[in-house]
Amino acid sequence: MSELIHVSVAWPYANGDMHIGHLAGAYLPADIFARYHRLRGNRVLMVSGSDSHGTPITVEADQSGRSPREVFEYFHARFLEAQLAMGISYDLFTHTDTENHHRIAQDFFLRLLEGKFLYQQKQHQLFSEAEQRFLPDRYVEGTCPICGYLEARGDQCDNCGNLLDALDLINPRSKIDGSTPIIRETEHFFLDLPAFTEKLQAYLEEGVDRWRPNVYKFSKNFIDGGLKGRPVTRDISWGIPVPLEGWESKRLYVWFEAVMGYFSASIEWAKNSGQPEAWKEWWYDPTAKIYNFIGKDNIPFHTIIWQAELLGVNRIYETDTEKTLNLPYDVPANEFMTLEGKALSKSRNWAVWLPDLLNRYDPDAIRYYVTTALPETRDSDFSWSDFLNRNNNELVAAWGNLANRVLSFAYKHWDGHIPEPGELAAQDRELLDAVEAGFDQVGEKIEGVKIRSALTETMALARLVNGYLDRAPWFRVIEEDKAAAATTVYTALRAIDNLKILFAPFLPFSSERLHANLGYEQPLFGKLAIHTIEEENRVHDVLAYDADGGNGRWQVSQLQPGGVLLPPTPLFKKLDKSIIEEERIKLG
Ligand code: MF3
Ligand code: ZN
Repeated sequence: MSELIHVSVAWPYANGDMHIGHLAGAYLPADIFARYHRLRGNRVLMVSGSDSHGTPITVEADQSGRSPREVFEYFHARFLEAQLAMGISYDLFTHTDTENHHRIAQDFFLRLLEGKFLYQQKQHQLFSEAEQRFLPDRYVEGTCPICGYLEARGDQCDNCGNLLDALDLINPRSKIDGSTPIIRETEHFFLDLPAFTEKLQAYLEEGVDRWRPNVYKFSKNFIDGGLKGRPVTRDISWGIPVPLEGWESKRLYVWFEAVMGYFSASIEWAKNSGQPEAWKEWWYDPTAKIYNFIGKDNIPFHTIIWQAELLGVNRIYETDTEKTLNLPYDVPANEFMTLEGKALSKSRNWAVWLPDLLNRYDPDAIRYYVTTALPETRDSDFSWSDFLNRNNNELVAAWGNLANRVLSFAYKHWDGHIPEPGELAAQDRELLDAVEAGFDQVGEKIEGVKIRSALTETMALARLVNGYLDRAPWFRVIEEDKAAAATTVYTALRAIDNLKILFAPFLPFSSERLHANLGYEQPLFGKLAIHTIEEENRVHDVLAYDADGGNGRWQVSQLQPGGVLLPPTPLFKKLDKSIIEEERIKLG
């Protein structure tokens, strides 16, 4: 039975290039998860896009002397290129400045208003006298009232993860000129979170068995601490207009609308693919499962606030009262990745940027290493020496050389064909049984979003095949017994054909090449490409995956004797030790 799987991936702020923290936090695990489910024959819809609004964009624009639009369009284009090269296979990666998203966010706002889940309230806000403007969110920094961190932002503390009200910051200062702001009154719309308390509690408890412990604990504490109404508009000019008269000078709060992107992008995807109703399956079928891949700093928005918005609008674009919008099924938030033992920092250039990384290394080498270091249960570290060792000793030595050695041997001694085996002996059957058991074992891990150990297990199976070949003398001196060698090589080729599939979600590029080398004519996966989409009054570029033609399946190899092999080429490259110093020098 084919399942409906929605993979909702955090929308990166388009205010700087993507780095390994983004990749490890959300994009790579989401892609592995999505590719696996596609191989399983499930119906996957994976969406995300550039988060193009809010003070992260305007602060960057102010600092670099560009308009917010220039900033977001520049980085959006770079996000498309980097993710295309990395093989992050979104069905749609769009952005939040489309007409589609604007309209849907405004509809959500009006529906919530109609349901009385939004109310107007006067509020005190920090204001800059010199600039004669309010200083929302990231326009102020100061000391966190909860953990004492000195560089907390007005909206959230990066150190303890708590959401903040800028007024509670100790020693607040303007991000524009460092001056101390004054307090001034303003009016905003607030989302009535307390109205959802019981429903949110029940929702969290219903999923308690699958939530990661840190996600559950953070969210439970957030609710138990007492929910408060949250302002969802801002005194700012860049963003989605509030769809009401008299509110022209204000915009929707970026977090209020960005999470709606999971929904609006699903609708855009349906429209772009010429089946405008297709999004409904993932959002209305109660058996559909929606997974939100995010970093831990985004937890409250994805376990509380987005749920409240969905519960509040309930049935947007549908009159059938039986139908309600699906809430996320799981939110497998990752912890943080450090770099050479220190926290990533954009301002201190303590980061590895994806465009640079992709200039120097193959995407599968990057994907392999980052997967072995995913911060799934605790913070993890990216280190260049580890990158080198994992690449050379595991990816190249245990998997790439194995595939290359067996294919070359078969190609050479059986004239480019898969040899005809004799009857499989116990050791041959045992090897195949062990590798084939991987389809259940690795699959179960990926389904439980334990991506890191799923890869460890797959690599352990590759090592089994190496051990099997070490025990086969005719693999080195074929003259000893060519018939026995044929059985061994056929068995090893089948094991490799299986491993190719098991590795495919993690290493799609090399698995695809190996698949072709083994003589298959249809590719494993569909095509990922950048497209231009025209709306009524705007044009935007997106990344989109087209499943057509991809026919890989998460199932045991049926490799036939006599089949034609292509001349093998090495799957991976060994790296030289010198890269460690070359890379470290670029940091800081
Ligand atoms: N832009 C946010 C960040 O980079 C993430 C937004 S996720 C969304 O932290 F779905 F809410 F948009
Ligand atoms: Zn803090």
